[in-house]
Formats: sequence, C-alpha cells, structure tokens
Amino acid sequence: MKTSMLRKTVLAALVSACMAGTAYAQADYLADFHTEMGGCENCHASEKGPTDDNLKYENTQCVSCHGDLKEVAANDPKDIVSPHASHLIGDIACTACHKGHEKSVAYCDACHSFGYDMPFQGKWKRTFVPVNADKQAQDAAIAAGPTESTDVVVIGSGGAGLAAAVAARNHHASVILLEKEPIPGGNSKLAAGGMNAAETKVQAKLGIKDKKEIMIADTMKGGHEKNDSQLVKVLANNSSDSIDWLMSMGADMNDVGRMGGASVNRAHRPTGGAGVGAEVTQILWDAAVQRGTDIRFNSRVVRILEAGGKVTGVLVQGARTGYYVIKTDAVVLATGGFAKNNERVAKFDPKLKGFAATNHPGATGDGLDVATQAGAATRDLQYIQAHPTYSPVGGVMVTEAVRGNGAILINRDGKRFVNEITTRDKASAAILAQKGASAYLVFDNSVRKSLSKIENYIHLHIVEQGATLADLAKEMGVPAKNLEASVASYNKFVKSGKDDQYGRPDMPRELNHGPYYAIEVKPAVHHTMGGVVIDTKGEVKDTKGNIIKGLYAAGEVTGGVHGANRLGGNAISDIVTFGRIAGTDAAVFAEKESK
Ligand code: FAD
Ligand code: FUM
Repeated sequence: MKTSMLRKTVLAALVSACMAGTAYAQADYLADFHTEMGGCENCHASEKGPTDDNLKYENTQCVSCHGDLKEVAANDPKDIVSPHASHLIGDIACTACHKGHEKSVAYCDACHSFGYDMPFQGKWKRTFVPVNADKQAQDAAIAAGPTESTDVVVIGSGGAGLAAAVAARNHHASVILLEKEPIPGGNSKLAAGGMNAAETKVQAKLGIKDKKEIMIADTMKGGHEKNDSQLVKVLANNSSDSIDWLMSMGADMNDVGRMGGASVNRAHRPTGGAGVGAEVTQILWDAAVQRGTDIRFNSRVVRILEAGGKVTGVLVQGARTGYYVIKTDAVVLATGGFAKNNERVAKFDPKLKGFAATNHPGATGDGLDVATQAGAATRDLQYIQAHPTYSPVGGVMVTEAVRGNGAILINRDGKRFVNEITTRDKASAAILAQKGASAYLVFDNSVRKSLSKIENYIHLHIVEQGATLADLAKEMGVPAKNLEASVASYNKFVKSGKDDQYGRPDMPRELNHGPYYAIEVKPAVHHTMGGVVIDTKGEVKDTKGNIIKGLYAAGEVTGGVHGANRLGGNAISDIVTFGRIAGTDAAVFAEKESK
C-alpha cells in the first residue's frame, strides 16, 4: 500500500476507534496492538529495541504511519481539545506520550486537565528520583572513565540552555546539550506575556519612551531590593541587544505590552500578542540545530565532575544508554527552577504546600542538587513566586498580558478589589483574601482581539462567555448589578485616566465591546527566584566565594537577578542575556584550556 494511503487508513481507523472508545480496550500496551500489524520491526530498527536516547528511529516510524503533528491534529475529533495542536517545539517526539511496553501517559496531562481520557492513557504520575540514587552504578561509570569529550556541555534545553548552546557554537566550540525530558524547551516554551527590554528599536518605532535605568529601578523595586544590583544592570543594559540578537535570527518581537510592576510598556512578544516562549525557543532551537549542536533527550545529568575547584566532566544517565561520562572543561548549567516539585517548594516556603504549579514537569530542581554536590553556593531559595492567574479548570497559567491589555479582576461579589497590574506577590495575596480564594479575570472583545494568546484559553474551554455583562454575570454566578457597576466605574477611570479606587496606573481601553468573557483564576507556584550564586560573567561561585573554574550557569537555576519577587517578562530577558553570556564565556574558557 502507498504510504499516503496507509497513513489515511491508519488515521481513519484510529479516529473511529477513538470516538467509539472500543478497539483499544483489547490490548494493554501499544506494542501488543502494533504486533498484530507486524513484528517488532514496525517500530524498532533493532530487535534489541531502541538504540539511542532520542528514540529518533521510533519517532520517525510513528510519523511514517500516523503523519506529523499537524496531520494528526487535523484528524483529532473536533469536539475535544487536541493535545497535538499545542506549544511543542523541536522534532516530533511521539514517544514522549505514546509508550510501547508500558502504559502511555499524555505528557501534557502533567499540567492540563482535558476532561476526557485518551486511548491507552495512564494518569500522570511522577516521583522525583534524587540525582544521587544508584550511587554504586554511578561510581562504576566514573571509574570506567569518559566515553567521549567535547568543548562545552550545556545542561538543559530551555531558553537559557539553547541560548548558551547557540552562543558557544558561534564561538566554534563543540557542544553537547543534555536534556532529561523527552521534549525540549522546559518552562521557556510555555512563556506567554513577553520579554522585557528597554530602549529597543521596537519601542522607539512605537513611540514608547523607556530607559535602561527605569528597567533597573523597576526590577530592584519589584524584587524588594534583594536583587544583586550588578546582575540587574547586566540584565537591563543587555536587554535591547538580546532582542536584536533574537530578531537577527528571525524572531518576531514586534508587539510591546505592559506587565505587572513595570512603569513602561517593555514586554516584547510576537505581532498580535502570541506567546513569547514558543517564538523564542523555536528560534533558538532552529539556530542550535543549524549550528550542529549535539542534542540528547532523556539524558539526565546526575553529577558534575570536578577536581581541585575545576570542572572535568559530567556524569549522564541516558534512559536507554545508562550511565556514561563526558569529559569537558566547561559546563553551562541551565536546568531551570523547581516550582513543579512541591515537596521542595514547601520546604522553603511552607505556605505554598499543596499549591498547583504553572510549570513543566521537569522543573524539579535537579540542577541545584547537581551544582551543590559540585560545591556551588546558593542564595534566596526561600523566595518563591505564585502567579496570580492560574486556571484551576484547565491547569494552565493565564498570562498577565490579559490584564496588561485591559482585563480587570472581579471577586464573587462582582466587585474589583486590587490594582490588577501590581506586582505578583500583591495580586496573589489579594486574590487569596477573596471569598473562595479565587477570582475572575473579566474582559471584553476588544481585549480578546488585542492578544491572540487568548484564543488558546478559548481552545482549552476555560473561558465563560456572555453577550452582555448581565449574561456573563449569570455564567459566573455573581450579582449582575454589581458586575455592571464595577465595569461602569472602571470605564469612567479609563476615560479620566485616573483609577480613584485602586490606583491602577495603566488602563489601555474601556471594557464596552461585547461579547464579554471571564476566566476563573487563583494563584499557583510559578517561579523560584533563588538558585546558584553567579557573577556577571555567569561563573558559578562556591560556598567560600571562589569561582568554580569552568562552571557557568544561567536562567532560573541561578539566584540574584530577581531578588525576592520577579517582575513579569524579566525571566525571558534573563535567560537570553545570561544564556548568551554563559555560553560565550564557557566557549572562550574551553578554548583557553585546550591550548
Ligand atoms: P527551563 O526553560 O525550565 O529549562 C530548563 C531545562 O533543563 C528543562 O527542560 C529541564 O527539563 C532541564 N533539566 C533540569 N534538570 C536537568 C538535568 N539534571 N539534566 C538534564 N536536563 C535537566 N517569563 C517571562 O519573562 N515572560 C513570560 O511571559 C513568562 N511566561 C511564563 C509562562 C509559564 C506558564 C511559565 C511556567 C513560566 C513563564 N515565565 C515567563 C518564566 C520563564 O519561562 C522561565 O523562568 C524561564 O523560561 C526559565 O528558563 P530556563 O532556561 O532557565 O529553564
Ligand atoms: O503572565 C505571564 O505571561 C507570565 C509572565 C512571566 O512569568 O514573566
């Protein structure tokens, strides 16, 4: 049968079986199901099974029968949310969700609730395995010595890791990038509202007057002055160059909006207001691939090897290849934060015990363990941020940009209760103080039109809708008169340019274009401000304040840039700027060492 015909047949069979919910019930695992259609060679190149940690061959085989993500999404039943039409970057990795010899789990089920079961699906469950588990096998691999060597190892394929890899490759260093998850992008690919940058060409074009000094002042104030001011200067002073760097590689950062705690519009994102993370990580991914970076998934770094205060290599745990050592002079730690590890979160901030998180499943804090084992000092781990607007219905964070573009917060009495674009700590505390410890984001059709990211929330079925405010109030279960009065007085403030009730500084538009929308929101753990101690070159310091030679870090795994409370939009700025710096410095260091 021709491939295209076979594809169509397989897709049609899957769709109807899925709708009927029958065919799959007979087989426990996908492997059983596929064996009926042939042998092991259906999926594997070798009888021994997968031969590499990326499962490249197996993923290609899935695509050859079922089609790529677009094709599969097009064939998904129309009355459900398609998990195939989502924020995935990089090569297709069907095996991230669809397992052969164990129960499949939908990877996105770790965060989202889709409200229906998928074929073969097991419920998402993951236990955190400490990096020093299995010490005997680890020691044996170290004793056996390195199996390969490279100039620079980058740990983590989020924005910081990808930026570091691109920068290091630009300096002609050989780079191996190791990612423990089956897909790239970490939290970075989820980023929504924007990337802060001051004095950019885009701002100038839009007539926005900003200064690096104002970005520094906003960041320090937002962080309650607990930030490392030298790192904040690096952040702000390089932010415009970082936007140029991304745009020179093809990124669209042409829309600029407001995020909480900023006194100027400086959150850059794609035209129309699409999510910034998917754009930035896709561009960096493409650049890293084009430059020949050796990228390995399902590859967890469990130890950084050092001798006499200098890096010598890393110990990797490949899901299929087991433990092995890579020799290197320079390591960039870009492992992100730990917001998804509630046990660790609660240890540092017991108030957050049991809270949901906005983060991807890999945000568990392994990087901190690996770094501290190698002698790194940490700071500010007690500062953990809750994002005020997380949808408990969809398991998804609703971007601050919705408020930045004009949405208001309404409580169960139908009333406003806070300056919606205050800093996250204040907005979260205000929501938790309301009845039911949650609130509603309310906006109109003009806000919807201003930000295409809102279409994702509509797609996820988390948005209530009403032709009039009274209709919407009914859907929300709040008194219609109160909601109408709250919106009317907010609209008056917009007209006069002064919010007499809560002092909201920026009110971009009146809310008077139906239909009207509401999303129920409550705070969820979002960002871990603390991490390893670095200097302005991204070099990691040990507990005595000395540099660990060859060890660099960037992004959410580091502490100091954001102080006690990060401003929305500053993390993407952080990862691009410090990722670039760390990658460049690591490459330069490796070159010196090789001479
Ligand atoms: P990540 O992107 O999380 O990447 C770290 C990677 O390292 C992960 O892929 C992880 O699996 C991997 N890793 C961890 N340990 C190991 C190990 N031992 N071995 C191998 N790999 C490992 N910030 C903004 O500025 N603007 C926004 O609009 C914005 N929106 C956000 C929306 C959401 C939903 C979330 C969750 C965050 C948002 N943020 C935003 C914050 C921002 O996205 C993150 O702080 C930032 O992307 C972190 O980047 P990173 O590269 O440091 O870490
Ligand atoms: O709300 C958001 O879009 C998140 C932004 C951030 O974490 O910086």
